[in-house]
Amino acid sequence: MKIISFIIQKGGCGKTTTTVNTAGYLALNGYKVLCVDMDPQGNLTQHFGYDNESLDRTILNLFQKSASFEEVVLKREEFLHILPNNIDTAAAEITLQKSMSREYLLRDVLSSLNNEYDFVFIDCPPTLGLFSINALAASHEFVLIVSPEFFPMKAIKPLYETYCMVKNRLNHSLQFNGIMLTMCDFRTRHSQEVLQILKKNFPHKLYKSYIRNNVSLKEASSYGQTIFEHNPASVGAFDYQNFSEEFIRDHHKNKAKRDYYQQKFDSLSQDQQNQIMNFAQRNLSLFIKNGLEKLPENTVIREAFLIERNKVMEKIFPYRTNVLIGSSP
Ligand SMILES: Nc1ncnc2c1ncn2[C@@H]1O[C@H](COP(=O)(O)OP(=O)(O)O)[C@@H](O)[C@H]1O
Ligand SMILES: [Mg+2]
Repeated sequence: MKIISFIIQKGGCGKTTTTVNTAGYLALNGYKVLCVDMDPQGNLTQHFGYDNESLDRTILNLFQKSASFEEVVLKREEFLHILPNNIDTAAAEITLQKSMSREYLLRDVLSSLNNEYDFVFIDCPPTLGLFSINALAASHEFVLIVSPEFFPMKAIKPLYETYCMVKNRLNHSLQFNGIMLTMCDFRTRHSQEVLQILKKNFPHKLYKSYIRNNVSLKEASSYGQTIFEHNPASVGAFDYQNFSEEFIRDHHKNKAKRDYYQQKFDSLSQDQQNQIMNFAQRNLSLFIKNGLEKLPENTVIREAFLIERNKVMEKIFPYRTNVLIGSSP
């Protein structure tokens, strides 16, 4: 079970959108995910379609030990569970500050889970206060979510100091996973500049995939849906698919699946391979029309092509049926 925080101490950068849609994509692809809403504004809870005013119980009950995990968790789908939050948690922050294990409230909640999930994703609030510290103290890794709206290096410095403090004092095994750029518009010079700065400062930490500005992502959130439910053919869905695939590239489950598709593909005739490539190309061109060719990274397109090809392969050689359930192809 891997616990990951999506974090930056600024609102409106796409943390919640990233947590929701990455979780949505992975759940669709057979990973079991728990999403933790650590922001008392409850945006993640709302984005998943819940009315947080009317919730009987929230994560606050877990912090106060007045309810069990089973009583609080919302099982939106078999593979997608949520620990909801609402504004009551903000009112309780002062009392929580006084508790002995105030930095380990979330860690204690998650420690009762017995590897039931592949991933736990924590959506952090836009401050570096108690709840973000709790998120980092409970995490194995964290991902910085940066939008070029503002100058990101300014925010990264205090965040780095918080990371060092948490790592030294609260959670020695905490790792910096990477930086992901959202809400980019590479037609603007500013977006380009921010990309160059991040590349220069974090050459091995910057995700190759990034999320472009896309109105469907905003719409999906107001409908209480993930982008894959709301508009799977949108640029937003395409970008979050690419990011999610890059995020799980080294996961053992994913490696096995990619190897399986490759093996099946190699066993086909040249003719069949060409047909499949044409299908994949056609799916991809939908997004290239939408400006993907302007992206400065060809690796993104190369990977996206492989993902599309594997989607076609999945239709012909369903991985679940052939490998996981074990019937012969
Ligand atoms: N790539 C995007 N393109 C367009 N709108 C976006 C994008 N990502 C997020 N948004 C919208 O921007 C707003 C802020 O995003 P959100 O994920 O809530 O940020 P944060 O959690 O960092 O405060 C939301 O209304 C969301 O729907
Ligand atoms: Mg948010």
